[in-house]
Amino acid sequence: MEKITLLQVPKLTIGCGCLAQCKLYLSASAFKRAFLVAPPIARKHAEKILAGLPASYIEDSIEAEPSIASFKQILDHARHFEPDVIIGIGGGSALDVAKLVAALWNSAQQIEEVMGINLLRERKTALVCIPTTAGTGSEVSPNAILLDEADKIKKGIISPCLVPDAVFVDAELTLTVPPSVTAATGLDALTHCIETYTNRFAHPVVDIWALEGIRLIASALVEAVQQPASLDAREKMARGSLYGGLCLGPVNTAAVHALSYPLGGWFHIAHGHANAILLPHVMRFNSVEAPSRYADVAVAMGVQRESSDQATAESGVLKLWSLIKATKLEMELSALGIRENDLPRLATAGLGVTRLMKNNPRSMSQQEAEAIYRLAYKGA
Ligand SMILES: [Fe+2]
Repeated sequence: MEKITLLQVPKLTIGCGCLAQCKLYLSASAFKRAFLVAPPIARKHAEKILAGLPASYIEDSIEAEPSIASFKQILDHARHFEPDVIIGIGGGSALDVAKLVAALWNSAQQIEEVMGINLLRERKTALVCIPTTAGTGSEVSPNAILLDEADKIKKGIISPCLVPDAVFVDAELTLTVPPSVTAATGLDALTHCIETYTNRFAHPVVDIWALEGIRLIASALVEAVQQPASLDAREKMARGSLYGGLCLGPVNTAAVHALSYPLGGWFHIAHGHANAILLPHVMRFNSVEAPSRYADVAVAMGVQRESSDQATAESGVLKLWSLIKATKLEMELSALGIRENDLPRLATAGLGVTRLMKNNPRSMSQQEAEAIYRLAYKGA
């Protein structure tokens, strides 16, 4: 077995209503100045945990796909406030921003210096994350993503310093998430699990989380979209998303995420939505190289084993299509403002995300990447 290092959140609380535990944790830790990164939609949750703290500041100007420029503004606000704890509460964007603020507000390092893997030297301020979607899994991952406006590409900052000190996963906070966001974020979490299990660097310790995440999300996604008040479905999605996040540190994602980045950077398609659009096409492309792994994915999604791994893998792709169809997500790039002559440069940019492309089980040429975008363009 290959060696693997797992970086874990020291305190992870999961369960309905556990936001109350967060309030207790904050007062027991005697924090005095809390800087919250919380979009307006999460404000009511933020206010619940702030009562009892001597001083707090809620930063709510969070872009859907945060840029370096907007991050720097938020960093300035934190520098003026001088917090002793940073709390991210919201979707992946809020959590990513909170993680980076905690590491950089009182650091000599600039954001531009820490883009990449293990370039961030330290984090001196306590960090608490509370996801309100299911989800990016950012609350337990060492990753954060920002949009670089200069080249319109989303770039990753990966460091053990970005793993929070405490995380509270409360599925009740996801009950008000609208269906389209539930669908996109849920399919992002499913992509984390699938890209980890089929990864060139997959590991048996992490496979367990990935397969259970696939099973939970495939069983609950449609119900969570169609019956938003179903706490049972929301809990399963929260757990599946958590497992997906746990996969992100030790193994991480591959071609779906790499190819989705320019869709977000250039065309502002939400991260989870872009992944959903590409996932079935990349699965079909990759399964030729790793049929038994994709057959396992299909079985975890609830598909019966067929006479061959390749046939089982194909049934998995069809099952995925049926789930996506039920969520009513738009799956044609042509309907999202993208023109056919954009596809070659999208392919070049996606292949340029080498830190993720290297994880893909099948190597991909420019022509093959263009062919995948072409399928996604037609949604077929
Ligand atoms: Fe993702």
